[in-house]
Amino acid sequence: EIFPSALAGSKAVAKEIAALIRAKQAQNQPCVLGMATGGTPIYLYAELVRMHREEGLSFKNVITFNLDEYYPIEKDAFQSYWSFMHRHLFNHIDIDPANIHIPNGSWPKEDIKKYCAAYEAELDKLGGVDLQILGIGLNGHIGFNEPGSSIFSKTRLVTLENTTRIANTYEFENISKVPRLAITMGISNILKAKRIVLMGWGQKAHIIAKSVEGNMTEQIPASILQQHSDCTFVIDEPAAAEL
Ligand code: GLP
Repeated sequence: EIFPSALAGSKAVAKEIAALIRAKQAQNQPCVLGMATGGTPIYLYAELVRMHREEGLSFKNVITFNLDEYYPIEKDAFQSYWSFMHRHLFNHIDIDPANIHIPNGSWPKEDIKKYCAAYEAELDKLGGVDLQILGIGLNGHIGFNEPGSSIFSKTRLVTLENTTRIANTYEFENISKVPRLAITMGISNILKAKRIVLMGWGQKAHIIAKSVEGNMTEQIPASILQQHSDCTFVIDEPAAAEL
């Protein structure tokens, strides 16, 4: 779906999320949302906050699982995805803090495999993600699944590509401060979501075209989404330029 602007696209995604939350509320069921970070979902989170304040949208039945987190990082560091999510969304809505799940970037390394397995087991126990929000990296990464990530990959510790570290340097003082590792949910976890909405704005035209119209390949992780039965790319006109 192509929108005239990132703002218009973000509002449409917020509307879909609000409708899902309300439908689940009406059935007395939890709504499990998969959350993403980065510049892309900022308008979406602002719109959800606005809907909470002005339209009474409640998040009391919402359970969230974030895709990824830098490693190592303290959760209250300004650059952590824990801080990002609280700054942009969680501090401004009525979600129960016990329902928020974000990979812990300061978990001891020797135990990280067990930690990752427990993170996805908790999600599976809840019946999986109802709606997964994704952004896309310039190299086609989703979450922090860099090119070459297996379609079977699970939640794990990964090494970031230098291009990813450069793209994310703006969040840090300089590139040497950008962590070299991250915890990310795997491609297999992402594919289990009942519905997936990938958002892409502006300078992403080349990788969006490859992901949507190119061959499905693990070298472009977002292209794997072609095999999901309910996935929509919500993009603005600049991001659609090469389709
Ligand atoms: C980041 C995140 C991804 C995000 C992507 C794009 O590093 N780990 O979840 O989708 O890269 O980032 P942005 O939205 O800032 O372009």
